[in-house]
Amino acid sequence: MSAKQLADQLAGQIRQRSGDQAVDIGLILGSGLAGFVAAVEDPVKIPYAELAGFPATGVEGHNPELIIGTIEGVRVAVLGGRSHYYENGQADAMRLPLETLKALGANTLLATNSAGSAHLGISPGQFMLINDHLNLAGANPLQGESSNQRFVDMTNAYDPDLRAAVKRGAESEGIDLQEGVYAWFSGPSFETPAEVRMAHILGADAVGMSTAAEVILARFLGMKAVAISNITNAGAGLSEISLSHSQTQQAAATSAIQFETLLRAFLRQFNEL
Ligand code: HPA
Repeated sequence: MSAKQLADQLAGQIRQRSGDQAVDIGLILGSGLAGFVAAVEDPVKIPYAELAGFPATGVEGHNPELIIGTIEGVRVAVLGGRSHYYENGQADAMRLPLETLKALGANTLLATNSAGSAHLGISPGQFMLINDHLNLAGANPLQGESSNQRFVDMTNAYDPDLRAAVKRGAESEGIDLQEGVYAWFSGPSFETPAEVRMAHILGADAVGMSTAAEVILARFLGMKAVAISNITNAGAGLSEISLSHSQTQQAAATSAIQFETLLRAFLRQFNEL
């Protein structure tokens, strides 16, 4: 069965539990941001384990559940956990979840992540609106796809109107929002200091291990995409603090409340589009 057929089947099962109302937007929550699930009103929660073909994510700080409900009057489908390329070497690990969101009606994807800064102009604790990416992972989620749709135009992959809506949302709440280019590294080891320097020279403002693959998939599926990084640390070599997953998670948890404020403000703007 094709991914599309599987997704249609899953969407049917999901609708039996969540109702027929179409989803407006899909959200992917990055490390340490799982708490945002509590913002979903009248949630219907379905563990990935009950959705045949959804990935088993083994990353602490992720919550492998699909949550459908409403936030700020917007019908959302939240992917509480993501699978990363580094987990099993599958860059397309999120394809079925994204196809399923699309089958549920979502024409927009908002991806969030934790990321390191690639230079000193961006600091831990700040949020960065991603306006483009560098794929330095050496992989692409559409490898193996045979249709001509695989030749996806990545110009404005991070949708200008949605970016403007995030900016208006941040402004309305007085949230300091940076904007820049996200470099996707495969992980799971953190980058070396030389790699962070290289990424900066190539034009990156932040480095991370996710999101780019999902945005490529979203564009392939005809969804608009927007993505925000929670800068949890200075990239390798930019500070004395040693990098670890627990530091990343703690830093993400510290800014989780402000992140929720930003996401809510964005969703209010999204409602006006
Ligand atoms: N590098 C890659 N991924 C990350 C980082 C980092 O410094 N911080 C959080 N996720």
